[in-house]
Formats: sequence, structure tokens, C-alpha cells
Amino acid sequence: MSQSTQRIDLDEIREEIADLDTPQERLAFLIELGQSLPQFDERYQIEEFRVLGCQSMVWVVPKLGEQTIEFLGSSDAPMVRGLVAILIAAYSGKSPSEIVAFPIEALFDEIHLKAFLTPMRSNGLHSMVQRIQGIAKGVLAEQASATSSLRATSKADKGCPLDPTGTNTPCGATIQQPAPPSKVVRGDWAKLPMIPISQCRKDFPILDAKLPCGKPWIYLDNAASAQRPVSVLDCMDRVYRNHYANVHRSGHQLAAETTEAMEAARQALCDWMHLESASQVIFTPGTTASINLVARSWGDAFLKTGDEIVLTEMEHHSNIVPWQQLAQRTGAVIRWIGVRDDYQLDLESLDKILSPRTKLVSITAVSNVLGTINPVRKIADAAHRVGAKVLVDAAQSVPHGKATAVDWDADWVVFSGHKMLGPTGIGVLAGKREILESMPPFLGGGNMIKSVSKSGFEQADLPHRFEAGTAAIVEAIAMKPALEYLLRVGSDQILSHEQNLTRRAIEGLQTIKNLRILGATEVNSGEKTGIVSFVIPGIHADQIGQYLNASGVAIRVGHHCAMPLHARFGLGVSARASFYFYNTEQEVDAFVTAVDRASQL
Ligand SMILES: Cc1ncc(COP(=O)(O)O)c(C=O)c1O
Repeated sequence: MSQSTQRIDLDEIREEIADLDTPQERLAFLIELGQSLPQFDERYQIEEFRVLGCQSMVWVVPKLGEQTIEFLGSSDAPMVRGLVAILIAAYSGKSPSEIVAFPIEALFDEIHLKAFLTPMRSNGLHSMVQRIQGIAKGVLAEQASATSSLRATSKADKGCPLDPTGTNTPCGATIQQPAPPSKVVRGDWAKLPMIPISQCRKDFPILDAKLPCGKPWIYLDNAASAQRPVSVLDCMDRVYRNHYANVHRSGHQLAAETTEAMEAARQALCDWMHLESASQVIFTPGTTASINLVARSWGDAFLKTGDEIVLTEMEHHSNIVPWQQLAQRTGAVIRWIGVRDDYQLDLESLDKILSPRTKLVSITAVSNVLGTINPVRKIADAAHRVGAKVLVDAAQSVPHGKATAVDWDADWVVFSGHKMLGPTGIGVLAGKREILESMPPFLGGGNMIKSVSKSGFEQADLPHRFEAGTAAIVEAIAMKPALEYLLRVGSDQILSHEQNLTRRAIEGLQTIKNLRILGATEVNSGEKTGIVSFVIPGIHADQIGQYLNASGVAIRVGHHCAMPLHARFGLGVSARASFYFYNTEQEVDAFVTAVDRASQL
């Protein structure tokens, strides 16, 4: 069979394969069949079109017609190209409902395919079938929503997303991104019932933990790390017990399941942030790691002596030190947006600070000491006007269900799982696709390459380019139930409950002699989260922390990794209570009482 652009005929395959007796003959036939696949454009060899769960690289690209779907496909393994050819012969040119109804297993039985394939190849074949059926189901779902016809989908009308000219594919048909794997339901939390605040506590087993005297712990250190609901704990336990294998490597069933679960989490995060593609979501060990990745990769590649990096005085050390290190390496200069006496950013100075020399503005969405919610979009717009990139540290924003990458127009958004009900050791770097594409890999190793030879390596596509080595697989998977729980409580409910608790705490603390609150004492919605930091002159914060600890109240004392901010207000350390949606008014009252007693020591 020679290379052609014609669709391969299924009946022809059936007839030819029926005449073959030995596994060797069938293998030779599959390889020959693979050679007959139409030429596959290199531009489609990207993550979006890759079929996960296959031992080798496999890509399937759907082209939507008026009533039918045509498929292009390829693989880096000659024999697998033969399997792709069989699937294309079986499915191409059929309507979505014909694709879903097509008796593919019967075809495999008829041509004795399963008996001939190893379990790994069989699983890979299954993954390809799932991908194709998932695409057809996605189209059917769109049709059912009656908002669009096959042709009139807005995405399809925009032309090939890979083609900057927006013209059609080489075959003349408009190409559309494949639907995500069929198990991933976009925004499926929207279908789950909301969780009222009053019902939440029972979902957090640790909140029942008791002191030796039998009193329950009062956990008010949520800005350092939140607690986890049962759904997250169960998910991790379930994966480790039943579905665990390494991801994106092996072709066996367990690996396919684990990979699919991890990609489902990535897709959920992508949907939540309203990003175009899950490949823009990179799993990292956390906020700190994400910022270091950008500093090492983008910073080292694009910054030079005299370029300026703008930070604010209220940044966490994680959003200061990596830039100071970058400045040391490159000769770039750091400039600072100040904090006013009313604890808001001094944005009047912004115009003087920003200039064409500014290459990066890196800001926190919410201060981890003051709870101030910053006007990120305003700052991002000003930064973009001078051509600077914008990184948003969303570590203290995501606990409230907010990582509004698109609304902020951020070039990168970074956050940690452990502050948003998820596991430790996992976080996210999300970014604009063209910027991520322009960044060289930071860590080298397994998973981040397409190929390696003695003379060098070819980097993988996004997101794997930045995910060298074995990821925190189970932690990444558990980000999905964490996100689902968070969104079922809902950011409105979370913020308003937190703000009620914060008002109550501030009112109580203000009755304590000499106590000074850091941060706004008016809690207007949209301006402050549930963080209250304070000092009592003459009493060291450590002493307050210890007294509260003995009373069963867990707060944080120290500089909270924000030494420049403390220095700005002439302080070394402070005490910080941080409330979350599972905290109660009684807990706040107990906290205020304990601080009052500590103040009288
Ligand atoms: C605003 C902010 N940025 C960054 C970080 C660092 O997060 P991680 O330690 O999870 O990397 C924190 C942690 O408290 C934070 O509050």
C-alpha cells in the first residue's frame, strides 16, 4: 500500500487481514497499513492532539464537517500507525452518533486484533477509541445544547487554532481542538449541589482534633495552610490503593487511569481559570517553586542588566527572593511599590515607577499579613502599557476560589494546593500560552523531552516541558476534589463568612488596650480577606502565640515571610489569625478572649 491522501477502506482491511495466519504476518501488515496513512502535518504533533495512555506517541486530530467528522492521525511507532489507520478507516466520515454506536469491539474481534496485541498495546488502542468517541460525544453534547450546529461552533469558525492565518487545514476542512478525554466533564462542579457553610465542618475530620484536656483545637492559621475535606483525603487514599502508577510513560491500564485522572485535574483547573487549554496549567510543587521557575526560565532568558523588576512592599519572600537572585545573575534592578499608612498600595507612585525599562511587575493578589485585596487588574493594565509582563501571586487568593487569570490579564498566575484545601507539595503555574511557549525548560530530565540523543534533546510541548521527573501525581489528582469542594462552597459564601468573622475579631481586638491591628480595620467586601495581624507593644508576639497555643488556639507569630512589610511599619514580627469558611463565631470569640488574657500577662 503506498502513501495516499485517500481514506483507507475498512472492507479492504478486513479482507486482507483475514488471509493472514501468523502474528509475524499481521505485524508486517499493520506496519504496511501504517505507511498508507495520509501525511500528518508536524504542527499537529502537540499535546492537545496527543492520546494519553498509549505506550508510544499517538495523535488524533478531528476535522468537523457539516454532518460528519474526519480524523487525521499518526504515531511515532510504525505498528501503532497501523492501528491508527484501522481506527481512521472505521470512524472517519461518520456522523458523531454513528461513531458512538459503531461496534468497534466486534471489529477488533473479527480481525483478531486483541488476541494479537500485547496488553499494553491493547490499552493504548482502547485509549485511542476513547479519545475518538469522546470527541464524538462532545460534538453530540454541543448539538444537544441546541446553541450551535456542527459547522457553526464559534471555535470551528475561527479556523485552525494552530494556523496563525486562521485559514483552513491542508485538507481544506476546518479543524477544531479535540474534546477533552470523555471522562472530563467541563465545570462539572456546577452540577453538584452547593455546600452551606453550616454543613462544612463535619467534612474536615481534623477540626475534631482535641487538646490533651479534651477541648477542641481552634485552628486559625489558615493563611499558612488550610485543612483538607474528606473528599480530598479519600481521593488520595483511593488512588494510592487502587489506581496508582506513574503517568505519561507506561501503556498499561493502571498508568492510563492514573494519567487520565491527573489530566482531569489539570482540565478542571484550566476550566476554573477560564484558560483556553489545559496545557497552560503546569503542575509545580507550589507557589514558591512556580515563581522560581519563571525567574529561572523566563528571567534568565529575557532579562539583562538595567532591566527593572517591580515588586510591592507587601510581597511574601517567595515573591521577592527569586527576583533578587535573578537581579544578582542578570544585573536587573528591583523597584518597589510602597504601602501607604492605611495599608493600601501606593498606586499614585506607579506611573513614576513604571517605565519602558520595566520588564516585570510581580504582585500578590492578597497580602498574607494584611489581608488587603489588591487591585490587580489596574496594576496589570499599567504594567502592560509599558510593555512589562505581569506575574500574580495568587497564593492567598485561591483559598477564596479566585484565580482569575483572564480577568486579571495576568501573564502568569501562581498558587499552592495546600492553601485551597488540596495536598501539600503541589501547586500551579498558569500562563498565557505564547509566553509559556517562549520559555526554555528550567529543570531537565524525564518527561520534559520529545527525544534525547547523545548530541542533545528536543524539548516536550507544554505543559510537560516544565514538568521534569515524576510529578506529585496523587497530589495533582487530588486538586480536583479540592477545587470541587471549594467551588461548591463558593467564593461569595467564603468571602462573606470570612469577612463577618474578621469584623467580629477586629471589634473584639479593638477593645484590648494598646493592641495595634495591622491592616484595614474597616472590612469592606472586596477589600479584605479573613486575615488579622496585630501587635501589642511590650508583649512579644511569641508570648502571645504561646499563650494562645496553651489555650488551644493555633495562630501564627513571626514575620510571616514578609520582613520588608514589617520593616515598613517599624516592626520585626506580629501575631496573625487567619480565618476560613469552616471557622465559627464561637472560635473567634475564644480567640479574642485568649488574646485579651495574654495582653494582661
Ligand atoms: C502570598 C504568598 N505567596 C507565596 C507563598 C508561598 O507559598 P508556598 O510556601 O506554598 O510555596 C505564601 C505562603 O504563605 C503566601 O502567602
